[in-house]
Amino acid sequence: MPAAGADSLNHVSVRDTDWDGVRLHVVTGKGGTGKTTVAAALALALASNGRPVLLMEVEGRQGIAQVFDVPPLPYEERRVAVAPADDGRPGGDVFALAVDPQSALIEYLEMFYNLRQAGKALTKLGVVDFATTIAPGLSDVLLTGKAAEATRRKSSGRFVYGAVVMDAPPTGRISRFLNISSEVSGLAKVGPIRGHADTVQSVIRSPQTAVHFVTLLEEMPVQETLDGIAELRDVGHGGIQPGGIVVNMMRDAELTGRQGAGAAGKISLGSKTRDTHALELALKAAGLGDDSELAADLADELADEARTARSQRAQRRQLDEAGQPCYDLPLIKDGIDLAALYRLAQALREQGAA
Ligand SMILES: Nc1ncnc2c1ncn2[C@@H]1O[C@H](COP(=O)(O)OP(=O)(O)OP(=O)(O)O)[C@@H](O)[C@H]1O
Ligand SMILES: [Mg+2]
Repeated sequence: MPAAGADSLNHVSVRDTDWDGVRLHVVTGKGGTGKTTVAAALALALASNGRPVLLMEVEGRQGIAQVFDVPPLPYEERRVAVAPADDGRPGGDVFALAVDPQSALIEYLEMFYNLRQAGKALTKLGVVDFATTIAPGLSDVLLTGKAAEATRRKSSGRFVYGAVVMDAPPTGRISRFLNISSEVSGLAKVGPIRGHADTVQSVIRSPQTAVHFVTLLEEMPVQETLDGIAELRDVGHGGIQPGGIVVNMMRDAELTGRQGAGAAGKISLGSKTRDTHALELALKAAGLGDDSELAADLADELADEARTARSQRAQRRQLDEAGQPCYDLPLIKDGIDLAALYRLAQALREQGAA
């Protein structure tokens, strides 16, 4: 009988995760909650399975280049990092790509019509800008189309990328961005763009695609997350699969047992006067003098903390009701560098996200 260690080495990528079978991971969330950071960490986490992963952004912000501290990304897949080894298996490469609708349109013309020169001429004439500005649905189908193409791309019968992660537009725009088929139908009823849109939709609406939400444990981003999940389910024809909810920037106290309430929670706001008195006595007993002002300040602070903790518990309950897996990521105090991304990637793996 083989030893357990040898046995696990033989199972190259047999590892239970919440998203087995998903090949296109779309990461959305309220602006500023950490979409780009979490998308980068998720790409690293997925690449730890040993296969290359493509991380792409679609909003022309060069957020990925900033996160990995590399020069601005061209319209070209570039290696930006290597995932940490896992179970003695080397980690896969993470490639990154910044997609813009203009380049995607030129590439599309070239692929379907062998029209690269024409594409260049059209660019010079401003037609490409014109087409992608005048028809936002066209831009979206080109951007999501690139994601679908990379997801399906094969070489020698094997998928080129183990997974594709998209740093996507924020929650407010996500279902419209992904539900391009209805947008484009007004634009092109038949023809190659229509066919292209249908192919893209068949990827996005399949179990191969999941849309993850990044949030903070605060009212607004949580509400946007819940609305976003509901919208995806409502998209029609079976909807688009919502993925996990990543609760980002959790403080230590919140993570360790999520008991930020702890002692503070016990101080009820309604009985502040009594508690202040109790605090005064406690401070005195601890040899900290009998300073009623200090006791009052402390009581205020504890009451604040209790209020935050209560509100966070309420937000957490709401998220739980959405019925999607939740992952907690710590607030990294020294800012986000590659080591921090590795830490976040590890946390995602430990919780079963990748
Ligand atoms: N877990 C974390 N710990 C510490 N800092 C974080 C964490 N996650 C994100 N940040 C920081 O928060 C800021 C916003 O993160 P990020 O750029 O990933 O958000 P975003 O949702 O992509 O923003 P935008 O909507 O502008 O695209 C950045 O400065 C990032 O370094
Ligand atoms: Mg971003």
